[in-house]
Amino acid sequence: MEPITIAELLPGYEPYHEENVNSVYKAQVHTDDQGEISAFVKSIPDQELLMECISALIGRALNLPIPKPLLVIVKPDSCPPGHDLRKPLFGCEEIQHPSVRRFVCPDGDINPHFHQLFIEKISAWKQLADAALFDEQIANCDRNSGNYLFDGRTFHLIDHGLAMYILFNEAITTDSPIPDNSFLQILTQQDEMSRKRSQKQIKTLLTQLGCININQAYDCSLFEKYADTPELGQKMIEIYRKRIEYITDIVFTQLGFKQENNNEYGAW
Ligand SMILES: Nc1ncnc2c1ncn2[C@@H]1O[C@H](COP(=O)(O)OP(=O)(O)OP(=O)(O)O)[C@@H](O)[C@H]1O
Ligand SMILES: [Mg+2]
Repeated sequence: MEPITIAELLPGYEPYHEENVNSVYKAQVHTDDQGEISAFVKSIPDQELLMECISALIGRALNLPIPKPLLVIVKPDSCPPGHDLRKPLFGCEEIQHPSVRRFVCPDGDINPHFHQLFIEKISAWKQLADAALFDEQIANCDRNSGNYLFDGRTFHLIDHGLAMYILFNEAITTDSPIPDNSFLQILTQQDEMSRKRSQKQIKTLLTQLGCININQAYDCSLFEKYADTPELGQKMIEIYRKRIEYITDIVFTQLGFKQENNNEYGAW
């Protein structure tokens, strides 16, 4: 698994507004391996930083299209307002494309051509089943249209700060589906043939998911270097591990395939 990249915030960052909740900045950051790069950075609580980093590292190890995560160090003379200097910002290498918000129509003022293009591309997206499984495993309840980007052809996943919300919300249990898995919902509406194809694809990714070393991912996230409550990390690992035991059942049941015998789901 790749280690997380450490970067330094350079002066001249600009606030970025797109109906987002946190203060997000578009910035230039300096990294040792790539030099100066463009990134989106935000000041978020420790547990969200942990989930952003660990989800991105796991997702990238599964070949999901997630921009490179960064821990961004700030100096006193370039510190965003209200940010605790002892902590890194979360950074994410810039993808030069807008979020899906521009393609769905909350206010009804979107070009219908763009909306149609989005519907066609998301339904045919080759990694849709993988992304649905990923969100379900990390219990990411926040895959709204601001949290994936669309380049007119394919998609990029961002903003995993609210993954593993199970840690704070007892209404979501380790062995149950998350309330709102947007990608899985698209798959469940497809015909039986397509759902079987998704099931087959998910089986392959389940094998890869089983090979992810969550302890290693946690170490790579460097959480214990900046966290005030490192015990949260161990709790997260425990929940992730428990969820892996139920994940096949959770996803296949939602796809409409009942467990038959010895963990075999349906015939293919
Ligand atoms: N790596 C990136 N490349 C391009 N755009 C990005 C990137 N990261 C973030 N953005 C843009 O910034 C917006 C806000 O980022 P993000 O979703 O991470 O912040 P947030 O405020 O925590 O979100 P939310 O509104 O879900 O709470 C995104 O919707 C997207 O438009
Ligand atoms: Mg967001």
